[in-house]
Amino acid sequence: MSEEVGKEAEPRRVIITSALPYANGEIHLGHVVSTYLPADIFARFNRLKGHEVVFTCATDDFGTPILLRAEKEGKRPEEYVEYWHQRDLKDFSDTGIAFDFFHKTSSKENIELAQHFFTLLHDKGLIYENGITQMYCENDKKFLPDRYVVGTCPYCDAMNQYSDGCENCGRAFTHTEILEPRCAICGRSPIMKSSLHYFFKLSALSSRLLDWLNNNENLQSEIRNYVGRWIDDGLKDWDITREISWGVPIPLGDEKGKVLYGWFDNHLCYISSTLLYLKNRGIDGKAFWNSSQIYHFIGKDIVYHHFLFLPAMRMGSGEYKLPEFIPTRGHLMLKGEKFSKSRGRYIGLREFLEVFPADYLRYYFSRITSYDQSDVNFDWDDFAAKINNELVASIGNFIHRTLSFINTRFEGKVPEQGELADEDLVLIQKIKKIPIQVGELLQRNEMDRGMRAILEFSGICNQYFQHKSPWVNTKESFTTLNICANAVRTLAILLMPYLPFSMTNLLSQFNLSTSSLSWENAGLLEVPVGHEIQAPTVLFRKVEKSEIDTRKSLLGKGGK
Ligand code: MF3
Ligand code: ZN
Repeated sequence: MSEEVGKEAEPRRVIITSALPYANGEIHLGHVVSTYLPADIFARFNRLKGHEVVFTCATDDFGTPILLRAEKEGKRPEEYVEYWHQRDLKDFSDTGIAFDFFHKTSSKENIELAQHFFTLLHDKGLIYENGITQMYCENDKKFLPDRYVVGTCPYCDAMNQYSDGCENCGRAFTHTEILEPRCAICGRSPIMKSSLHYFFKLSALSSRLLDWLNNNENLQSEIRNYVGRWIDDGLKDWDITREISWGVPIPLGDEKGKVLYGWFDNHLCYISSTLLYLKNRGIDGKAFWNSSQIYHFIGKDIVYHHFLFLPAMRMGSGEYKLPEFIPTRGHLMLKGEKFSKSRGRYIGLREFLEVFPADYLRYYFSRITSYDQSDVNFDWDDFAAKINNELVASIGNFIHRTLSFINTRFEGKVPEQGELADEDLVLIQKIKKIPIQVGELLQRNEMDRGMRAILEFSGICNQYFQHKSPWVNTKESFTTLNICANAVRTLAILLMPYLPFSMTNLLSQFNLSTSSLSWENAGLLEVPVGHEIQAPTVLFRKVEKSEIDTRKSLLGKGGK
């Protein structure tokens, strides 16, 4: 098991996961921006590079909040999470988020893997039993795990936090640490009652975690710094038991009414879903896992779990390699406040997709989301401006004028190059270089800078077209349109990871098959002379001011 694999420049095998959505509500834009879109763009880019990619996700099915919601709706939890599983899958595919496999944490495979990890860590002395006093509500006659208790964060004093962690400062903690606890069901103060729990010895892995953090330059430095400080402050052992019925049964046989905490099993679904996907293809999943470059895409609110619990459990198990990259991005803000499903302050994905094409969302979000933890601000006016001035006026315009010109003046056939002038040679050089430039940025996960480079390229193409004025300089127009046709093909490949719906459409207008394209040949001017294209249709329509006004007026009212 080596953590050195990440140093290879060009891995052939790439495993990509994105944080698992809880199976208790719709996917919202905050998840898309921080996690799913960056992961999907990266996966599509890697597929175009010809790598063996496995891109998985799953619904996060277990835990108290989900059980609570299922109970409220009078449904069995299995039934409840299945509904959200199907619904999420549809939302993802409508957004162009193309997982190779979408599984469930409550699947047989994941339960087995979680129990396997438990047994392994238990046998190695990394899990021990300890009597604890737990909160108990005498009114509701219930032990009160996690979200059944609300109170004040012991680290930053933020009020109304759940007892397993703080949304304000990002620390994870336990119900014994939270201040001024109240029962989330009835609001009364709970009493303490003793109970036997299992603990994972996180503290014993402190120095290995610190080494991993310090020696892994692929991890974002800002995060390495603050997680390093958490470790220096001293890690507490982690209570992995919950007194509910909805979770992975503790595999010791005598644990009636207790299950494993959801954060013990959920990230293991990255592994179990990848293994199952590979197994269905006759591939040895464990060997594949341990010889891949691994990326777990997350939002910054779950750094604690992914930089401490996850690596510690994998180190302890000794069976599955740690990730090389944990690309982490900030929150989506709406008028300066965090999008939040639990607090009902968000724009729904469905709501968005009912009004605008998925590629508009993909364009805007990839354009404004940087590879760091800074928050991303959603703004309807900015959205309209970027779609209209960039996507429509620059990228769409160049593509459309090129295809239209070929269609009307050359009977839809790509003309032949004549003698090349300096200006032609300059653009040809650009076409050759741009895939390398954008490829480097995408490899480094800088999708926003990649998009800006593409935009600059389409700007140069437009200037070239304008300056060449093929409608006037008819003699040179053959050369001009040949080069422009090749530039459109290059653009189609570069934009494929970002705008898969529109680019698939463009390629069919262009009569090019998607399977023949690769990132490596994106800079080749290989559109054959005489290649026939279809009459083009407009790829991108303008966003009207009235549409934006409507969206703004519906903000916070749950959409239309
Ligand atoms: N469901 C969790 C959340 O939304 C994320 C789980 S990611 C995993 O915060 F690592 F646990 F899988
Ligand atoms: Zn109560």
